[in-house]
Amino acid sequence: MNLMLPKDIFKNKTILITGGGSGLGLSMAEGLLELGATVAILSRNEEKLKKAAQSLEEKTGSKVYWVAADVRDAEKIDASIAQIVQETGGLHGVVNNAAGNFISPTERLSANAFSSIIDIVLKGTIHTTMSAGKYWMSQKQPGVFVNIVTTYASTGSAFVVPSATAKAGVVALTRSLAVEWAKYGIRTNAIAPGPFPTEGAWSRLFPKDALPAELASKMDPAKKIPLGRVGQHHELVNLVSYLLSDFSGFMNGEVVTFDGGEWLQGAGEFNWLQAVPNQLWDAIEAATRKGK
Ligand code: HXC
Ligand code: NAP
Repeated sequence: MNLMLPKDIFKNKTILITGGGSGLGLSMAEGLLELGATVAILSRNEEKLKKAAQSLEEKTGSKVYWVAADVRDAEKIDASIAQIVQETGGLHGVVNNAAGNFISPTERLSANAFSSIIDIVLKGTIHTTMSAGKYWMSQKQPGVFVNIVTTYASTGSAFVVPSATAKAGVVALTRSLAVEWAKYGIRTNAIAPGPFPTEGAWSRLFPKDALPAELASKMDPAKKIPLGRVGQHHELVNLVSYLLSDFSGFMNGEVVTFDGGEWLQGAGEFNWLQAVPNQLWDAIEAATRKGK
């Protein structure tokens, strides 16, 4: 992985990554191991965690700690944090990365469908945050949270309303605790990524095969991004590492948008003029000058 920080930057630091057994969480685990961290990954599926830990250990030569737990279960999360502290000797950073999501017209959602996303994304983040935060306070030690949200946590988005609602709550949590817990030496920041290919997100949010060709081509996320491409995992890993490290020691309560300009492209009133070919601008200029 192409990483920017020195290799031993997280030596003797334990970082917990929720949802660290797949997708972006797995890439973060690999990167943080390369940077010397002791890494614990937590999610529901024990088999997935075991496989992820084994492959990470083979790649990096470092031991990987894992705990099978559902972030919706507050008591289990308390017990998991205690287990991680006991096994690794401490806890210094938490990446709240576990999430659930799928596209659906909102009126088709059952009460349980709505709750399951809110419970994983918002309440799950609250459970790990409360548990780790109280541990750090009890030990009188500093700590750092990085919460993974999305760009539509600020803008909202049709068809992913439970996720948008829950991630907006995580943004509010991030900004609130950045102020309230700073006195304990706890920093809280968030990252709002644009599209980064993962099996978990792509299978639930971009189901191209279910659509006719014309609609499927509209689904290509790269087409909505000014830089003309989706994100690369190592780019996000570098940002997460920076936010976990003391190099970002003055950053607190920030939500870093990391989307190649995607949300701004969707927002700007005249951004559609990108579609106008250069040779048309003489005629357009002549027409607009008439408005003098
Ligand atoms: C409508 C659905 C549904 C769908 C599930 N449900 N999928 N409703 N459309 N596609 C309903 C179920 O019928 C059920 O309601 C309720 O939701 C809970 O579903 P379960 O399968 O029982 O829940 P659970 O096993 O807890 O699984 C949670 C999950 C699942 C969220 C539904 O998809 C999951 O495990 N996801 C984890 C990984 C993930 O989502 N990764 C993507 C993250 S990407 P009823 O009423 O029938 O009981 C992301 C941002 C990406 O967050 C941004 C990209 C730019
Ligand atoms: P992913 O691989 O599906 O990651 C989600 C992880 O969360 C999985 O490892 C899953 O593991 C875990 N998880 C889900 N429910 C859980 C629960 N109840 N308890 C504990 N763990 C649970 O998808 P991803 O794309 O890497 O997403 C990672 C994060 O990035 C999410 O916060 C997502 O919202 C955010 N994000 C992704 C993108 C993107 O383009 N990929 C864009 C913006 C934001 P188990 O199923 O084994 O529990």
